[in-house]
Amino acid sequence: MKRLDKLIALNCNLSRKEARQKIKDGDVSVNGKTVLRAEELIDSDNDEVSVKGYNFTNKEHVYIMLNKPAGVITATKDENKRTVIDLIPDSLRRRSLFPCGRLDRDTTGLLIITDDGSLSHRIMSPSHHVKKTYLACLSDPLGADDIARLEAGITLADGTECMPAKVKAFTEGGAQCAYITIGEGKYHQVKRMFAAVGNKVETLCRVKIGSLCLDESLAEGECRELTQDELALIFEENE
Ligand code: URA
Repeated sequence: MKRLDKLIALNCNLSRKEARQKIKDGDVSVNGKTVLRAEELIDSDNDEVSVKGYNFTNKEHVYIMLNKPAGVITATKDENKRTVIDLIPDSLRRRSLFPCGRLDRDTTGLLIITDDGSLSHRIMSPSHHVKKTYLACLSDPLGADDIARLEAGITLADGTECMPAKVKAFTEGGAQCAYITIGEGKYHQVKRMFAAVGNKVETLCRVKIGSLCLDESLAEGECRELTQDELALIFEENE
């Protein structure tokens, strides 16, 4: 059993004081009835709590897919710059949301945001082999020998060795593009891999984590909750 104000603060990204105010304002109901007592004890497994303006759930964690736009930093807080957390609507906010992994400021696409540290660890840890696929637009054509070098495991300019990648090059409307799948997350890895074969990444978008694809109906900057089935796809082999 948990106190109502505590439960609301936790789930709605509110301070205890703000949660108490919501209760006082009559914005909170339990099992269909307005409750005005902050200290009311709630059985979070069975009682149905609803808070006006919030998608209140009794779920322990929240898992969000964001289509990250360019120009936003992958951090939880920043004095001056907009962060990916600033893009999460109030209805999905919780106190301890953070991004799983990092995309560069100019990289767009699939980013998972959660308050579940263990999921983040499973996605990021090299031992779990979760692959990430990126769509890169390049300055120059990618030759068969470049692809062979990337797929064999390329050595970056500073001597860092990368694991073998999977690369599929194509042209679209005259632009040179490639899908590249990697199982690691070194600093600026994809950009540095293409630089190592004398090319330059013009734009980069992450399109897949494991077998979970970016939902194309999400415009850049939009996000939504992931379903349990989608969460499982993260840990399925990426073709
Ligand atoms: N590799 C990069 O170079 N940048 C990213 O944002 C992600 C992977």
